[in-house]
Amino acid sequence: MRLNKYLADSGVSSRRESERIVTSGRVKINGKTITDINIPVNDNDTVSVDGNTVKPIKKQYYIMLHKPKGYITSAKDELGRKTVMQLIDIKARLFPIGRLDYDTEGLLLLTNDGKLANILTHPKHRIGKTYLVRLSGQLSTDSIQQLEKGVIIDGETTQPAIVDIISGDVHNTRLNITIFEGKNHQIKKMFDAVGHQVEFLKRIAIGEIKLGGLTRGTYRDLNKKELEYLNSLK
Ligand code: URA
Repeated sequence: MRLNKYLADSGVSSRRESERIVTSGRVKINGKTITDINIPVNDNDTVSVDGNTVKPIKKQYYIMLHKPKGYITSAKDELGRKTVMQLIDIKARLFPIGRLDYDTEGLLLLTNDGKLANILTHPKHRIGKTYLVRLSGQLSTDSIQQLEKGVIIDGETTQPAIVDIISGDVHNTRLNITIFEGKNHQIKKMFDAVGHQVEFLKRIAIGEIKLGGLTRGTYRDLNKKELEYLNSLK
C-alpha cells in the first residue's frame, strides 16, 4: 500500500492532505523521515506521524450466508469443487466460522474477526447449533432419549442434545436438533448411531442468530441485534 493511502486508511488525513503532512517531514517509516508520498508501506513497517504510531483501521465484516448444497466450506478445494467464497463479493480475507458439509445447506457465518471465530467454535462456550433434519424411517422415543443423553460416535459420547420432532411416519421423520459441540459430520454420525440415515440437513441457527428467510446462495451483514449478541459472548 502506498504511504498516502496508508495514512488515509489510518484515519490521519484524506489522501490529498497526506501529501502536505508527508512533504513537511512529519512522517517516519521505521524511524526514518520520509517525504515521498508514493513510497510503498509493508505490513511489518512502523509508520509514525509527529512521533505517534499509526495503523490502518481494518474494516470488520460479520456476514451470514445461506450456503447451498454443492459448495465446500473452505477457501480452496483440490478437487476443483465450488467454494462458499465464490458466493461472496467482498475483497477482505473472510473465513467461515465452523464448517458445513458439501451436501449440507444453511447458516454459515463468515468474518475477518479471528477473536470472534475462536469464541464461537470453542466448546467451552457451548453455543447451540440448530439443524433441520429429514431422516429415513421413524425415530423411536427410545432413540430420541439416547440422542438427548449422548450417543457414542468415533469412540466418544456426544454432549446432551435437544430434539424436537416436527412430523414423522414410517418413511421419514422431520425434526430440529440442537447440539452444543461441533465434531466432524456430527449430526449424520449421531443419527447413524441410532440406525437412521440423514436425507436432508440444514443449519437454521447458531446461538441466537437465525437463518430466517435468507434466500439460498445469498448473504447479508449481521444486524445490530445480532452483533450485540456476538459481542456479549466476547
Ligand atoms: N453435522 C453434519 O453431519 N454435517 C454438517 O454439515 C453439519 C453438522
